[in-house]
Amino acid sequence: MYEIISKKSLGEGINLYCISVPDVAFKALPGQFIILRVNKNGERVPITIADTDKKNGTVTILVQTLGKTTHMLSELNVGDSLADVVGPLGVPSETEKFGTVACIGGGFGIAAIYPIARALKESGNHVISIIGARSKELLLMEDEMRSASSEILIATNDGSYGTKGIVTDVLRHLIYEKNIHIDRVVAIGPVIMMKAVSDLTRERSIKTLVSLNPIMIDGTGMCGACRVLVDKKTKFACVDGPDFDGHLVDFDNLMNRLKFYKDEEKASYECHMKQHHNV
Ligand SMILES: Cc1cc2nc3c(=O)[nH]c(=O)nc-3n(C[C@H](O)[C@H](O)[C@H](O)COP(=O)(O)OP(=O)(O)OC[C@H]3O[C@@H](n4cnc5c(N)ncnc54)[C@H](O)[C@@H]3O)c2cc1C
Ligand code: FES
Repeated sequence: MYEIISKKSLGEGINLYCISVPDVAFKALPGQFIILRVNKNGERVPITIADTDKKNGTVTILVQTLGKTTHMLSELNVGDSLADVVGPLGVPSETEKFGTVACIGGGFGIAAIYPIARALKESGNHVISIIGARSKELLLMEDEMRSASSEILIATNDGSYGTKGIVTDVLRHLIYEKNIHIDRVVAIGPVIMMKAVSDLTRERSIKTLVSLNPIMIDGTGMCGACRVLVDKKTKFACVDGPDFDGHLVDFDNLMNRLKFYKDEEKASYECHMKQHHNV
């Protein structure tokens, strides 16, 4: 159980894992996530399910190495096992037929949006995907996103591929210059990106869903760690989300809450590196 079946590096600090979790693979729907622990005393880390293979009982996840736990995960290899995995968690994303849907992904958000884009296309939507990275070499899952979309548009900060700029520049061009009619937007990525997308679409009243990533602990709605403010009301992202209406989310509150344990996270990472790697 929880064995790593394959591991592929997609660049500095980004790994794609295929993990054996038959129960989760069988039930998971687009937009849902797992909470994993690397070892029995370890922190619980929420990670979006990027893909499933029901026949072989595996789930695919893409993980960006940031702090202690994701670093420990990056050191595991094929044949190693995680301590445990719970899921699928969260409310599945809405993937009915809406018309034209723009799916916007940045960073690990590209892996998270991939199953949603695919399901939206299968439901008969015209899916315009917009994905971005700092430069061409850092762009994730382009082939997968291409196959999951009706059209794909790419933005790189340095202009090495696609439009020079960020994903919101491409969306703004579509909506305001090309006057493309978009029925719905789904955006997953850094909080600042989801906020910028929501600000852009609010002006044209285009329904926009974002997937929130607050710190989580139990993932069952009991601990309150993942509380977010949506329409001035407290919601728990693990059970009420992670998808919410971007026009109603208090992004500043989310950004502040994500910074809350920065000193402890830094100390924990440094302590781990000192103990295990002598650095
Ligand atoms: C529903 C959900 C789905 C997620 N899906 C993915 C995914 O598919 N792939 C992936 O790589 N990550 C995903 N994350 C984020 C991931 O859970 C965190 O990056 C991870 O918990 C960091 O753990 P750590 O111990 O390595 O770092 P920590 O020591 O906890 O943090 C190190 C630094 O990482 C950043 N960080 C911490 N927590 C988060 C967070 N929740 N979101 C963004 N940045 C954070 C902060 O800058 C922090 O200072 C998801 C989070 C949620 C809530
Ligand atoms: S993680 Fe505890 S309530 Fe959501």
